[in-house]
Amino acid sequence: MKTLSIINLKGGVAKTISAVTMAYILSAEKGYRVLLVDNDKQGNASKMLDRHSYSHKGIETLMTERLPVMAAVIQHTDYDNLDIITANMELIKANLTVQLDQQRPQQNRIKKALDRIQWNYDICIIDNAPDINISTVNALAASDYVMIPVTIDDFALDGLSELAEQIENTREDLNPSLRLLGCFVTQYATGEEADRQGEEILRGMEYPVFETHIRRTEKVKPATFLRVPVPLYSNRCAASLDYRKLTEEFLERSGIINVKEE
Ligand SMILES: Nc1ncnc2c1ncn2[C@@H]1O[C@H](COP(=O)(O)OP(=O)(O)O)[C@@H](O)[C@H]1O
Ligand SMILES: [Mg+2]
Repeated sequence: MKTLSIINLKGGVAKTISAVTMAYILSAEKGYRVLLVDNDKQGNASKMLDRHSYSHKGIETLMTERLPVMAAVIQHTDYDNLDIITANMELIKANLTVQLDQQRPQQNRIKKALDRIQWNYDICIIDNAPDINISTVNALAASDYVMIPVTIDDFALDGLSELAEQIENTREDLNPSLRLLGCFVTQYATGEEADRQGEEILRGMEYPVFETHIRRTEKVKPATFLRVPVPLYSNRCAASLDYRKLTEEFLERSGIINVKEE
């Protein structure tokens, strides 16, 4: 199993839409066995896949229990090959518990739990909160790859250097195999000069940037209201086409495509 974290310190940049859509394309369309991990107390990825609840265990259990029963935490979704570990506000309490626990290391809890089910899945995607906290550090410690969605607005590049530094620190201290695959532009308004220039500025910076950007599409919002993955709601809309291209680029850049064909 290879693990991808989708992360940005900003909210509203399409972290959740990207995580859910890529997970859906990789599993339901491409046949990979995919585990989506919701690592944001808002639980938006869980809501998108219609699994948000307070009666089922989720990510908080991985943070607090020494040997969580993974079968009791992982849930099937309505889609072939796509399972989920959900999140809800319980994660706030769990993170406080972790920080008060001096007995066990705090930063490798998600990694240790995921290691135990690594043969059950090809790809794991972690949707993160817009924060650097014990949850996101755990996600980075558990990941092989990072992708950073960026939306072009006034403060688009805020926090990017802090995040890059955190990724670098995590690689040095905890997880030498962690790799920033790249940033990618989301909610791109075709024909708008600001978006074109913003993407160009991003490409001029020191971070890798994906060729593919995700166009702003009016189909995305209704898909979220209906809690349906975007490609299922609108198979041929610009966002669905772009996410398929981005997913191909992810498979190539990560080298996963070769892993599966071996
Ligand atoms: N390609 C897109 N076109 C139009 N709206 C989008 C697109 N991607 C995301 N959005 C909208 O942007 C908002 C934020 O997306 P979300 O994935 O929840 O961001 P984050 O997880 O980074 O906070 C949502 O309302 C979503 O509908
Ligand atoms: Mg989100």
